[in-house]
Amino acid sequence: MTKFKLGVIVGSNRKESINRKLAQALIKLGGPAFDAKFIQIDDLPMYNQDKEQPLPAPVARFKSEVEASDALLFVTPEHNRSLPAVLKNAIDWGGRPYGKTSWPGKPAAITGTSGGAISSAVAQQHLKVVLANQGMHVMGGEAYLLFKPELLNAENDVTDENVRKFLKTFIDQFSAFASKFAPQKATAAAA
Ligand code: FNR
Repeated sequence: MTKFKLGVIVGSNRKESINRKLAQALIKLGGPAFDAKFIQIDDLPMYNQDKEQPLPAPVARFKSEVEASDALLFVTPEHNRSLPAVLKNAIDWGGRPYGKTSWPGKPAAITGTSGGAISSAVAQQHLKVVLANQGMHVMGGEAYLLFKPELLNAENDVTDENVRKFLKTFIDQFSAFASKFAPQKATAAAA
């Protein structure tokens, strides 16, 4: 059975990122539908058009990992009511140099968590616009999660049954959504 290659991009460079933990929980819940790989963004230099030729090595590595992914899952916190700079920087590099963007046609889903009352809702809305602008197919719907320390256990399993069901539905919907953009793999996966 062919699995999807799922690139996972976490919008945080924090070692103990709660969004990275959430991403790990989602990967577990998504089960055998995909092979997940975290795509590192915290080693990318600050975008500078003067540094496009040649591309810095971490940027070339980042772009090749994005391009090798069949679908992309973005799990992000919110910074000042928008997406974090480290994530926007990665998206900017991925779209460059002109004519060599890595993003178009990729199915993508967005989720994220924070301890704030409306979680990362505004960051997700902004991110949706940015990804669509880059030609990605962004899954509709919304998945905001208020983070509490007891949400995940030490193995990054979701402790609350209702939250677990919610996240499982989200990641399964995304697998079904992503399969529509890679029909030959969907057929192989269903066989
Ligand atoms: C935040 N945080 C935050 N939270 C939120 O819900 N809305 C917001 O606008 C902001 N703004 C914000 C700005 C900056 C500069 C920081 C550092 C933090 C809180 C943030 O969501 C919290 O630190 C999360 O723990 C970040 O997720 P990671 O990095 O642990 O994945």
